[in-house]
Amino acid sequence: MTRVLVLNGPNLGRLGSREPDVYGNQDLTALTKILIADSPGVEIDLRQTDSEPELMSWLHEAVDTRTPVILNPAAFTHYSYALRDAAAQVTKAGIPLIEVHISNPHAREEFRHTSVISSVATGVIAGFGFDSYRLALTQLTRAPLVD
Ligand code: DQA
Repeated sequence: MTRVLVLNGPNLGRLGSREPDVYGNQDLTALTKILIADSPGVEIDLRQTDSEPELMSWLHEAVDTRTPVILNPAAFTHYSYALRDAAAQVTKAGIPLIEVHISNPHAREEFRHTSVISSVATGVIAGFGFDSYRLALTQLTRAPLVD
């Protein structure tokens, strides 16, 4: 594996200043540096958008280029069937897609308890701050137990 797409949805460009009690004090630039330091030899292609169609187009790109995905869909998690259908194309093509969340949505407001993405994701990691991304990257880059 040489490249991983780390895709972030709406409002995650505000990390660092947005609700630091929930999301911490670090921004996406810091996250990129952490992931690069964790995985020498892996190209970390980290992106963020507030736009649903743009996020979908990046998932389409993941299918076309067969690139594994770490996806924090942010608020789209809870209601975007369009994003779910795009994510399903990734995993149905046999490409891993790990849904991540900085916070634990299940410990928060009721509307955050539903993810329309999880059932088409390869797996879900939530509640560990930026370590949610690091754990996802570890899983994507470790040798499979069974091949
Ligand atoms: C989030 C959780 C979502 O409920 C929220 O809308 C976000 C961030 C997280 O990383 O904890 O924007 O995905």
